[in-house]
Amino acid sequence: MQVQENISLKFYNTFGIDAKAKFFCEINSEKDLADALRLEEYPNKFILSGGSNMLITKDIEALVLHINIKGITILKENDDHVLLKIMAGENWHQMVLWTLEHNYGGLENMSLIPGNTGTAPIQNIGAYGVELKDIFVSCDAMEIATQQIHKFTKEDCQFGYRDSYFKNEGKGKFVITSVNLRLTKNQHVLNTTYGAIEAQLENDSITDPTIKDISNAVITIRQSKLPDPTELGNSGSFFKNPLVSKSEFEKFSKIYPEAPYYKVSEDLYKIPAGWLIEQCGFKGKRFGDAGVHKNQALVLVNYGNATGEEIIKLAFDIINTVEKKFGIRMSPEVNIIG
Ligand code: EPU
Repeated sequence: MQVQENISLKFYNTFGIDAKAKFFCEINSEKDLADALRLEEYPNKFILSGGSNMLITKDIEALVLHINIKGITILKENDDHVLLKIMAGENWHQMVLWTLEHNYGGLENMSLIPGNTGTAPIQNIGAYGVELKDIFVSCDAMEIATQQIHKFTKEDCQFGYRDSYFKNEGKGKFVITSVNLRLTKNQHVLNTTYGAIEAQLENDSITDPTIKDISNAVITIRQSKLPDPTELGNSGSFFKNPLVSKSEFEKFSKIYPEAPYYKVSEDLYKIPAGWLIEQCGFKGKRFGDAGVHKNQALVLVNYGNATGEEIIKLAFDIINTVEKKFGIRMSPEVNIIG
């Protein structure tokens, strides 16, 4: 474990923001992590994983710990299920492809999500009708203050929509080191209810899909809507889809009956932020090197040399414009650093 100085983070965050880490250290094992957390000469530590859900707005003065702990182990299996332990630094999508090669089911709808496995529980990643919590069993996390490993069950994680314990009471206190997932070996439970998946399978003339077919459909859909971060810097959905109460929703839908929505519960409705943003005319717009993606207004992009400050300015212009027009205040989904 070696501390480097003045490292550009451009290739460590999917937005491609060229901010610097004053001090930077690769973490390849739980021991490296414990050793680095104990370094008293760097009192502030910053945990960096896949860098796919953050917007860095200035240089980082703290010691950046880049979590690169690898490995996938089968902890248990029977005829029907397998319990996998996946170390935090495993790239999410590569790991999903590995499970599909072994015919393990459960992750196919979450193909091609950027980022690493260790950060998946923090915001309970999800796509096309499936969320991490659906196959999650537990995770191990190192307490920053004591370097002790704690096990968190699904209940302990308090998962919600793009939310968990690690974004609330546990924020800044733990580093997730591994995640245990329970997947199916046969009798896979397919989730094709999401309209776009159904349409894609039909388009591919697939009537009896395998988990690999679903993964391929999701990959095709994502590639058609979401920019590839290696080609165009972005952090996926920049905003969360806002949740509104039933009475707010009723008022809104009287004025905008054409607006798409999802009913979350009796009193809660989710309105797609992408739709709200598109209605305000931002879709495909570019301001210097910061922009709104042309195929999905929920995604902000960096055309090359945008700074974090420029992206944040655009984000708040959008939030304020949407609020003025619809009376609905959106909030960012990505972590804003700085
Ligand atoms: N829409 C528009 N204009 C747009 C974008 C979307 O009108 O520019 C409308 C669509 O026509 C559709 C609705 O909004 O009626 C929903 O769009 P979509 O199905 O593409 O999903 P989303 O709500 O925009 C969410 C997640 C995505 C996830 C997809 C699929 C959030 C914040 N985003 O997007 O997650 O891939 O559903 O499940 O919940 C991410 O978190 O980074 C991410 C990409």
